[in-house]
Amino acid sequence: MKPSETDNDNAIAAQVKQLIAQMTLEEKVGQMVQIDFSVIGDTNPAHQACPIDRAKLDNAINHYHVGSILNTPHTPDNKAQSVATWCKITEEVRRAAAQSRLKIPVIYGIDAIHGATYSQGATLFPQAISMAATFNPKLSEQEGEITAREIRVSGLPWNFSPVMDIGRQPLWPRLWETYGEDVHLASTLGAAFIKGHQGDDFSAPDKAATCLKHFVGYSFPINGKDRTPAWISERMLREYFLPSFEAGIKAGSPTIMINSSEVDGIPGHANHHYLTTILRDEMGFKGFTVSDWEDIIRLYTRDKMAASPREAVKIAVMAGVDMSMVPLDFSFYDLLLDLAKAGEVPMTRIDEAVSRILTVKVQTGLFKPDHQPLPAENNFATPAAQAINLQAAHEAIILAKNDHAVLPLQKSAKVLVTGPTANLLSALNGGWTITWQGDNESLYPKDKLTVLAALQQKSPGNITYVPGSGFDSEIDIANAVSAAKNQDVILLCLGEKPYTETMGNIDNLDLPAAQTKLAQALLATGKPVVLLMLGGRPRIITPIAEQAAGVVLGFLPGMEGGRAIADVLLGDYNPNGKLPITYPRHPNGITLYDYKPIESLDSNSYKPLYPFGHGLSYTSFATSGLAVAKPKIKMGESVDVTVNVKNTGKLAGQETVLLYLQDLAASVTRPNKQLKAFKKVPLAAGESQQLRFTLTPHDLSFIGVDLKRVVEAGEFEVKVGDEAVKFAVVE
Ligand code: GLC
Repeated sequence: MKPSETDNDNAIAAQVKQLIAQMTLEEKVGQMVQIDFSVIGDTNPAHQACPIDRAKLDNAINHYHVGSILNTPHTPDNKAQSVATWCKITEEVRRAAAQSRLKIPVIYGIDAIHGATYSQGATLFPQAISMAATFNPKLSEQEGEITAREIRVSGLPWNFSPVMDIGRQPLWPRLWETYGEDVHLASTLGAAFIKGHQGDDFSAPDKAATCLKHFVGYSFPINGKDRTPAWISERMLREYFLPSFEAGIKAGSPTIMINSSEVDGIPGHANHHYLTTILRDEMGFKGFTVSDWEDIIRLYTRDKMAASPREAVKIAVMAGVDMSMVPLDFSFYDLLLDLAKAGEVPMTRIDEAVSRILTVKVQTGLFKPDHQPLPAENNFATPAAQAINLQAAHEAIILAKNDHAVLPLQKSAKVLVTGPTANLLSALNGGWTITWQGDNESLYPKDKLTVLAALQQKSPGNITYVPGSGFDSEIDIANAVSAAKNQDVILLCLGEKPYTETMGNIDNLDLPAAQTKLAQALLATGKPVVLLMLGGRPRIITPIAEQAAGVVLGFLPGMEGGRAIADVLLGDYNPNGKLPITYPRHPNGITLYDYKPIESLDSNSYKPLYPFGHGLSYTSFATSGLAVAKPKIKMGESVDVTVNVKNTGKLAGQETVLLYLQDLAASVTRPNKQLKAFKKVPLAAGESQQLRFTLTPHDLSFIGVDLKRVVEAGEFEVKVGDEAVKFAVVE
């Protein structure tokens, strides 16, 4: 009989307790240390088959007892590592740890943000913002499965993903790493990713541990720039920023990475209220927390909170940081050892952190004697994985405008393709792709297709390419204009070059002047223009979009994105993506879909260019017959909702039906609507289907005046499409 979860937990607890009893203070402190690969790396070009300096590795393991290593080798050509090299690296680390006194394995962490970033040829999915646009949890689960398999093939057991931050600040350069502005959507897709990545037992050879990040409030900097202050009231934190982490913890993620920035003047790494009172005492998180890059010492060097590096370590460890991503030296080890010997950090706190870390190492299967990388055969970049990646890219593409059915293009159409994102794989993928910033086009796989290449492959002889402009500079706008004269339609590919973190900070959402100039020149030709936007966040495209006949929002659809976009443009795929964020009409148009009633007055109403949930199809759909099972329910009861959806057009397609709820009277003002459920259904032309949803008491709840989650009696309104139906909760 399979041991119960409790039996398993008890066995792990006993194993960890027995190990801790044998550990020296130095060995315990070492487990709390995570170093970057570069600390043990060998940059000698002759040693790139396994770029590890064994003396440095043995020093890290045997003198500093390091518990974790992260990141990829920064080899001179900066390329991703082959799976063979990764296996040599992780095997060498395993060997060194196995030769240490207690043989405690190192847990190696990697940023596999949209697939195994740093493994050559890995399946690289649409980025989270684009996965969110699919509104397809099954695809997110499959992305998790495939990502876990492909990092395990590289011998890597721990992924610093998913990002569970909520993307409610469009300027923020990591918006694209989130699942968008809505709590329910982000929670659903993040939990699905974790389910696929970990399965029921992430010690399995094809499963791996995940890491929820960045706890908490990192994604809402008031000025939109990465790692700058967020001012978030506790009510807002509990309503908008904690729930997705609750969902991730419930889904079983065993580690949490901490917010690099500060909220209400308290740096994430110094916030005992968030890291201990809320995360542990309230949310019941049992895994371990890991700092973000260098963020403990930054309490001293940057935040001017700690008066010394030693005080920074004390503040962070006592706030609830279990592992320090130091990551470029052993300073954390030396300082914490000194603090422990001085009794300023109690042994109980160190034992607590080490116990959490060792528990996750056992859960991840690192102590299994036969622990080996997963064989690459049938597990790495398989045709099945590529097919799922293409499906995800297809479902991520959002058709935002299609006047006069300019799309799909005729197969015989003569198309001018122009603009900075037309012929770049990096514009389809964004950051965390082969390199940290994802901006080295020369390193991208030669067998993947840019938008231009995919169109040329599908419609040979009909595609003319003139660059027109770069991201920030004019190239040959006049040539593009003259080339347009002989074409039927212009595909104008604009947007952003890759970036992540502070490198992607901008001062406003306006498009660079060169791109606007190219757009205006081509619109002036009078030829029909289809605007394609690629990039990690919305940009202000209003003047262009209003004149263009068609608008396609691609965001970051990943390595199969070029093919997917070409399939949509040429009618070989019927688009069904929907916006997971609000697409602003104006630079300061940052009112989001779940705005408050006070924001619905005419003067300041919600008037985005394209609203959250917007996305067209080549067919058409209609919902009808919205009904609730009971007009009145008792407090604590759930209520069933049904609605019909019909494909009223001539083409088969998929439609996502979004169910919103409004609490019509409450002791805290409630949004005009909040997404509470969604279902995506394929429908043949003319086909209709009845969908059933259940709204639970949790769906009806909100964060009350006393900061506790509450359901209040009174009227609610369910909204689907242009229908609304009320029901009441009675005491
Ligand atoms: C970075 C990022 C974090 C990433 C970590 C390790 O600073 O903030 O998301 O996981 O460092 O690369």
